[in-house]
Amino acid sequence: MAKPKLTARAVAARIIKQVLLQQASLSSLFTEQLPLLAENERGLCQQLCYGVLRWQPQLQAISAQLLKKPFKRKDLDIEALILCGLYQLRAMRVPEHAAISETVNACKSLGKNWASGLINACLRNYQRQQQQLETEIEQNEIAKYAHPQWLINRFKHNWPEQWQEALTANNQQAPMMLRVNERHFSRDDYLGLLTQSDIAATPLKECAQGVLLEKACDVFELPGFSAGAVSVQDGAAQIVADLLNLKSDLRILDACAAPGGKTGHILEKAQNATLTALDIDEQRLKQIEQNLDRLDLPAKLIAADAGQPETWWDNEPFDRILIDAPCSGTGVIRRHPDIKQLRREEDIRNLAIQQQQLLEQLWPLLKPDGLLVYTTCSALKEENEYQVRDFLQRHPEAEEYTPETAPAQRSSVGYQRLPGDGQLDGFYYACIRHR
Ligand SMILES: C[S@@+](CC[C@H](N)C(=O)[O-])C[C@H]1O[C@@H](n2cnc3c(N)ncnc32)[C@H](O)[C@@H]1O
Repeated sequence: MAKPKLTARAVAARIIKQVLLQQASLSSLFTEQLPLLAENERGLCQQLCYGVLRWQPQLQAISAQLLKKPFKRKDLDIEALILCGLYQLRAMRVPEHAAISETVNACKSLGKNWASGLINACLRNYQRQQQQLETEIEQNEIAKYAHPQWLINRFKHNWPEQWQEALTANNQQAPMMLRVNERHFSRDDYLGLLTQSDIAATPLKECAQGVLLEKACDVFELPGFSAGAVSVQDGAAQIVADLLNLKSDLRILDACAAPGGKTGHILEKAQNATLTALDIDEQRLKQIEQNLDRLDLPAKLIAADAGQPETWWDNEPFDRILIDAPCSGTGVIRRHPDIKQLRREEDIRNLAIQQQQLLEQLWPLLKPDGLLVYTTCSALKEENEYQVRDFLQRHPEAEEYTPETAPAQRSSVGYQRLPGDGQLDGFYYACIRHR
């Protein structure tokens, strides 16, 4: 007998199961699994995965009320299907009867017919008890803010005045933002091209090349995308290149460069730069290559540990160093909701150690009149202002440099943008130079 066709809901359940088991990230699972689906099913699958992972702590609190006992690990795809069903009933415009019947049918393509009755009963019970279940969410902090408790606690502790706003912003769908390549078009001219293509957009006030799209679209609908006229990048990340105080003929190190968003921006802005882009992950380094090919800009790409310069450095110091450090990603949860599942509390300490090593090992590679910019997409002080404060204490020869325009709210050291501040991602920025 022919195997039942894979559906958007079944593949979404498989993907969500893997994330719940902390086996892979959403983006790597999309790359692997979406091609298994017919093209017209892929959008729905992505929408379900993003939605369910964004609201997972809340959806799971509801499903726990509806189920007698938790699922075994091997059946987490069935739990994921229930979460998909709840998400459709609560947040999507799918008619309720279709949401339930299509979710129940997905059991077949997962080869788990035995679960059809259970899923059907669960979703229908939700419909009957909706009001009471929704009221109960308000009493449970994890469910209400849809974040794991350890992360809620960290936000509260770091941002006693703003934690609720920041967590709420983490749960919003992020808008699509572009960076115009001014080697091709001025931002105004590009906005004109977007208008001609019926793509509604406005300039981003925080960054000179930034554009905010009213609605997300396929990149290939963007005028000149394949020729490198424009890239997709959040405004908070675009601010970084401005902090590097770029001019012509600089020797620049982009130490944690993949997938190359900031590398491309730096090269668009700096004439005759000699840029070394490093990343420890060889696969991710290939993404830099693809990005720079599209932009038609050159860089020296090296797969290496930036924290071990003796393995890759040619002993020529740099005028500029960017450390866009590996971090918790707690400022970009709205774009990567799987972070809520994949990150563990103990990761934060380990990341802080890695960040400290990168700062320590790369600082000696800077020319005496050079500038080092340290950034993360984290909202946690341990990775940000405390990290740079401790570095400055250990290095009396280093001092903070104040950029012409503040990139975000001033912190004790550096600048912090919390998620959603000015519609942008959460980000931290610090500029350091020799005294
Ligand atoms: C926040 S991402 C960089 C994003 C990138 N700058 C951009 O704008 O597209 C951090 C990167 O650091 C890399 N990384 C982590 N540890 C590293 C190390 N010790 N040396 C070099 N790269 C490292 C990761 O593989 C990851 O690609």
